[in-house]
Amino acid sequence: MSAAPYVPVTKDEVAFVGTGPVPTRPYYDPAYFELEREAIFKRVWLHVGRVDEVDQPGQYIVRPIEAARASVLIVRGADGELRAFHNVCAHRSAQLVPGDGGTARNFQCRYHGWTYGSDGRLRGVPDEGSFFDVDKAECGLAPIALETCAGFIFVNLDRTPRHSLREFLGVWADRIEALDIGASDVFSEYTYEVEANWKVTFDNFQEIYHGRIVHAKSIGAQTFAPENPFGYPTKYSFAEDGLHRSKTLWFNPNYQPGPIEALASRIVATSSPPVSDTMASSTEHFYLFPNVTFLAAQNRCFTQTVWPIDAHHTRSVIRVYWEGPDPSASVRFAREFRTAATLDVHCEDRDIIEASHQGLRSGAFESLHFQIHEVDCRHAYHAVDRHVEEYRSELAGGRPA
Ligand code: FES
Repeated sequence: MSAAPYVPVTKDEVAFVGTGPVPTRPYYDPAYFELEREAIFKRVWLHVGRVDEVDQPGQYIVRPIEAARASVLIVRGADGELRAFHNVCAHRSAQLVPGDGGTARNFQCRYHGWTYGSDGRLRGVPDEGSFFDVDKAECGLAPIALETCAGFIFVNLDRTPRHSLREFLGVWADRIEALDIGASDVFSEYTYEVEANWKVTFDNFQEIYHGRIVHAKSIGAQTFAPENPFGYPTKYSFAEDGLHRSKTLWFNPNYQPGPIEALASRIVATSSPPVSDTMASSTEHFYLFPNVTFLAAQNRCFTQTVWPIDAHHTRSVIRVYWEGPDPSASVRFAREFRTAATLDVHCEDRDIIEASHQGLRSGAFESLHFQIHEVDCRHAYHAVDRHVEEYRSELAGGRPA
């Protein structure tokens, strides 16, 4: 693996994000989490899936978004249109579709049998004549804003989103569309839950500082070298509006993989489509506000989406992406090896994420300290807190939430 000589990022380059201590309370306080529900998860664009999962008419996926107390039904209509709805029946608000996905022409409520088409329209009401003035045309599923970028589906639970997805992502939309991850159409997925606040979980993937201690055995040799003993990134980029961020990773140019890893790398490299210039030169982590990480690197594309369950519990969804189905058993092996290697690293993180949360919620300290290479954590904290403060101001001003 070739790599540019290591040039450290300086304090001056990141000081504009802030230099002082950051309060610990937002990382564990249930009252703060209640504000985050309203200020963030009910208002901003959230990545929930890939268009490939709902490619055919009638295909649907269901996504729980606990932080917004919502369940979202995303379905490809018979007309080919991709739509999102609240997964809630218009009769008496029972949750409509169980499970996490499938294919259906209609959705029938399990309670009294109201039936909806894949376009969300109410099609059938048992014993319709016993209702008073119910207009079926007005009783379709409640729509949710849906837009896509590079094949990634985003929804916004705000009834009237303040921004289009494109406005929300800004130049990050162009950057993601330039990556080969957008052409991926198959993936391996695993999820895990941790007893930790979502920001504690997300921050673990926003800094490399801990790698030397936590990941020394798994990716240490690949990441560290005498000229860069902590494996620090070489560049940080921040969106002008303060929402999104990215970092350019650095790898040990003299890393020698073991025989199995070398074999898997060789198989994936020779079986993959030609690598674009963008991908060949890019090994970046993109962090999209509020909760998704994209790793874009040659043959190593993955996403991690961090879903708050409550102030003290989080679900992580990891996806490792590939282009096209397995052409052979050896490619299947190589892809599984990559996925397992990614899982190994995340397993190493789990205990320390939970230990961090336990310490934070003890209230032993009122502030924490970020160094240069934890700047992404600091940037994320400010983005979250700015939303919370704006929401508090709205409440104080008497404007409806
Ligand atoms: Fe769905 Fe009654 S709540 S049919």
